[in-house]
Amino acid sequence: MTSFHKTKKSAAVLKHEILNQYISPFASKTGLWSQGHRVAVIDGYAGPGRYEDGKEGSGAMLLRKAHQAAAMNSPRQVELHFVEKEAAFAARLREVVVAEGVGLTCTINQGEISQHLPKLLDAAKAIPLFTYLDPCGLIIPLDEVASIFVDRPGGQGAPATEVLINLTAHLRRFGGMLNSPNPVEASLKRIDGVCGGEWWRDAWLEKCPSQDPSDDEKTAAELAVVEGYAARLRERAGGAGTWIIDVRPRADRKPLYYLIFATRNVNGMVVFGESASLGLKAWRKYHAELAAEDTLFGADGAWEEAWKDQEKVLDRQWIDTLAERLTGELAKGEPFSILQRPAEVLGDLAGVVRGTHFRKAIDKVRNEGKTTTDPKGVNDLWSLKLMPA
Ligand SMILES: C[S@@+](CC[C@H](N)C(=O)[O-])C[C@H]1O[C@@H](n2cnc3c(N)ncnc32)[C@H](O)[C@@H]1O
Repeated sequence: MTSFHKTKKSAAVLKHEILNQYISPFASKTGLWSQGHRVAVIDGYAGPGRYEDGKEGSGAMLLRKAHQAAAMNSPRQVELHFVEKEAAFAARLREVVVAEGVGLTCTINQGEISQHLPKLLDAAKAIPLFTYLDPCGLIIPLDEVASIFVDRPGGQGAPATEVLINLTAHLRRFGGMLNSPNPVEASLKRIDGVCGGEWWRDAWLEKCPSQDPSDDEKTAAELAVVEGYAARLRERAGGAGTWIIDVRPRADRKPLYYLIFATRNVNGMVVFGESASLGLKAWRKYHAELAAEDTLFGADGAWEEAWKDQEKVLDRQWIDTLAERLTGELAKGEPFSILQRPAEVLGDLAGVVRGTHFRKAIDKVRNEGKTTTDPKGVNDLWSLKLMPA
């Protein structure tokens, strides 16, 4: 347990980069109209705030974000509520907050998130709330995650409610038990709680029916459970939207964990999509640097040029794919926005591409004479109506 937070694991880079990208626009946008420009963030599985080597954990990052929000021309008051079960980590977190949280509103709650969540939801009742749930093992039951939404009304003018959860690939271990001749019912029941019912057993077995499933089957089964989980969370949250991001070290590897983001706000979906795309870019850069370490590339920084070239290739591929899909949709003859047809236009590129790719794809389609719509100067390309030429 003591070595757990020694140094940042590569798997943490993506979730931290996404948080890093997302918290500022969340605070800025949702705090514009909130009471006293207040915004709350709950970090439900907080850890010690900083790793032993000094790198930022979510705690130190959120403190930095809250200071930045307070220093805006039109300041936002970001109130931070940390929950951490382990006494030693909570004590270290307290030191980080004392040193780096001067002037901010923060609470440190030692104990189980289940125990502290209700009162924290109460404290944030009237203001926008972002909850980050990042366990190292199994997450609290779906009922409890959904409770974040249940007592907070949605709709026009209501304070935003959003969650980002890390659904770890632990599911694979438990799911695998279903394929064994003697599954341990008590373990399966734990996942029933996490998933809000037994439905996940069928979802798993549909993709992994045999006693000796392949890796691909297990990955497909895991994704089916994650998608089922997101669907149930959307339903329980009263019409929320979700993004699912599978975090893989490389495209050809199985996911290490899944991030699920849920919001009732379309703008939240759009901005989170941008943050996810930028987070993935930082994650690819991190891996390119890591791969170059101890090679000739690493010594003189040549890896960065090689990485930039690879990014250009990816950008071109994504723009071409988007342009092709837009052309297909335009051929149907009706004006539409990307927001109205996310599955058709984005598909597997959801959370991967962002505004810059949309702009270039729309430009391409326009140059090919397929649309009359000019994206120049338009900020919100998700909502831009594309007119068939
Ligand atoms: C993956 S780490 C957190 C990392 C941190 N959120 C970050 O992004 O830097 C998970 C933490 O949750 C704590 N934890 C585990 N179960 C918990 C529970 N039921 N309630 C609150 N904290 C818990 C663990 O002690 C551990 O420090």
